[in-house]
Amino acid sequence: MSYQSITPGECAAKLSGADRVVVVSGAGLSTAAGVPDFRGPKGLYVTRAYDPEQVFEIHGFDRDPRPFYAFTRDFLSLLGTIRPTFTHRFLVELERRKPETTIITQNIDGMHQRAGSRRVYPMHGDYETAHCRGCGRGYEGSEVEAMLEHQEVPTCDRCGVAIKPDVVFFGENVRHFNEAQSLAGASDLMLALGTSLTVYPAAMLPEIAGGEVVIVNQGEVGMRPRPGVFLADANLDEFFQSVAAELDWSVEE
Ligand code: APR
Ligand code: ZN
Repeated sequence: MSYQSITPGECAAKLSGADRVVVVSGAGLSTAAGVPDFRGPKGLYVTRAYDPEQVFEIHGFDRDPRPFYAFTRDFLSLLGTIRPTFTHRFLVELERRKPETTIITQNIDGMHQRAGSRRVYPMHGDYETAHCRGCGRGYEGSEVEAMLEHQEVPTCDRCGVAIKPDVVFFGENVRHFNEAQSLAGASDLMLALGTSLTVYPAAMLPEIAGGEVVIVNQGEVGMRPRPGVFLADANLDEFFQSVAAELDWSVEE
């Protein structure tokens, strides 16, 4: 069985009739802004720019936090130079018109929040807060960024152990999973955007969606086709510019 395809017009019609839209977003949402994804053609795991086992793995971090902080320096300085994509901004308009819209994101770049979306659950955490790996003391993300100016690895001023931003590593539990499960089950339409749907448990959410699922993603997705699941193998911003035109929605610049 192959996926049922879907056009922007058909997606617009489904959005018009939905009230409880749940968006599951992935790294593909931010590539147009210049943030590399992981498994796309220029993804971090494809170019091997960073070794995922070293950078995003909790035991690797506790052994040596330097690779993660080398990535973090590049990542945070990149975030300072970019702005949300059209699709991020389309989702803000969607929430404005349909206030029960909720975004469950796998992204750690904070771009949904920066664009103005309010109901955002960062399942893989983000850089807003951090905790000491020794005594558990909490820090603001801004404090860690300030430490990065003069420390290769920010350390706790109470116990001297490395501080780790509250990004979810492989080997750690994701955030907000119970809410994500109930939101997915209660949704009457789910959009899975810019994600290869290969990392669990986020990849499970479209399997338990209460209504139809529309996947918009260029390239392979790790989800079995089933009735009620539609796939547009398309560029996200181009697709949602067409959806916005079909709906006659003007999306803030
Ligand atoms: N339009 C449409 N699709 C795109 C675009 C775009 N402009 N840019 C990239 N894509 C697609 C890529 O082809 C890829 O299939 O988005 C998908 C992104 O998939 P991944 O790189 O696997 O990212 P994601 O699914 O978010 O990864 C999940 O893996 O490493 C962990 O914690 C990390 O949150 C991440 C998780
Ligand atoms: Zn400490």
